[in-house]
Amino acid sequence: MKTILSNNKTPITFISVFLVAIVIMLLSSFGRAGRENNANEVDTLKGLKDFYKDYFPIGVAVAPNNLVGEQAEMIKKNFNSLTPENVMKPALIHPAENKYFWDDADKIVEFAQSNGMKVRGHTLCWHGQTGAWMFKDSIGKQVTKEVALARLKDHITQVVSRYKGKVYAWDVLNEAIVDDNDSSKVYRDSPWYKICGEEFIAKAFQWAHEADPKAVLFYNDYNTEVPVKRDKIYNMLKKLLKAGVPVNAIGLQGHWHTDDPSEQNLRDAIDKFSSLGLKVQVTEFDVTIYTSKTDTINIGFTPEREQKQIDFYKMAFKVLREKKDLITGVTFWNVSDRRSWLDRPNKKSYPLLFDENLKPKKAYWEVVKF
Ligand code: XIL
Repeated sequence: MKTILSNNKTPITFISVFLVAIVIMLLSSFGRAGRENNANEVDTLKGLKDFYKDYFPIGVAVAPNNLVGEQAEMIKKNFNSLTPENVMKPALIHPAENKYFWDDADKIVEFAQSNGMKVRGHTLCWHGQTGAWMFKDSIGKQVTKEVALARLKDHITQVVSRYKGKVYAWDVLNEAIVDDNDSSKVYRDSPWYKICGEEFIAKAFQWAHEADPKAVLFYNDYNTEVPVKRDKIYNMLKKLLKAGVPVNAIGLQGHWHTDDPSEQNLRDAIDKFSSLGLKVQVTEFDVTIYTSKTDTINIGFTPEREQKQIDFYKMAFKVLREKKDLITGVTFWNVSDRRSWLDRPNKKSYPLLFDENLKPKKAYWEVVKF
């Protein structure tokens, strides 16, 4: 009996020690998992804007139909600034002479106000999405410079006054500089330029300033990191500032590619524009997975493309955080990969930080990891 007991004691003791060890291991791994889950839960409860609260507001370009249901909730959680993607553009808000259409723009401004968000107005003077009527008389003939400027003044005054105190910043002038490697070719050959010459530029800023002296007035453009174009823009802004024109800031649209701009060109552009005393924002951030416009094959969101996009977003946000004293806002152009203005039939661009289900992508988690 004794022998049997003592013989059995060893395995029983061994088994109980073994079991206790397993229980301890399991408990500690549950604890770890619990802690990890808690950390993730905290991060999941936060939105993109919360991670950047000590840096700059995080905005998004929207249409009124983004502001309902699950997208509205997701927008409220992640963003604290809105830009109307289209509805404040001249052709939409001012479709005919003496005819303004405010409803859609009002909806966006009201949503922002009831949710404590800022609004960037986009855009007062542009060659795109501007009614052809603006440049024509009643028999279809091109108007004179006087008529064109009078119409521009009316447009800017009406739109800026309506949203005075509600829209804190305006893209007064959009894309007025030409993409040409020849540095002697400066201005885009737009109807505004053809009819008015350079004069409309300073006037546009003055009229916007008169309508709302507190609004922050932007020049906004793309390819602002390409040295030749960057320098043309720099020279134009320098000249405007010297003449006392009320331009306060520059918008780098930020329609970027995973291979462009380089970190150096991005840094140089921010530094160069800031050296004029202007604040800088990224106003239309997206990073297509296609490397250039000629990259036309619908490749899909492959792991390689995803990684390149993650690397680009990481790099860009690192630079923006480092330069937070110069940067007053970063706005994404569209809400999620569900729909981007870059998408074409059979060619999706996947350019944003949220996927088609509105969930944060891997790039998002890299952007908030600092
Ligand atoms: C784009 C909108 O996203 C599209 O829906 C529209 O069809 C065309 O304009 N630069 C700008 C923005 O300043 O206004 C453009 O927005 C994208 C390029």
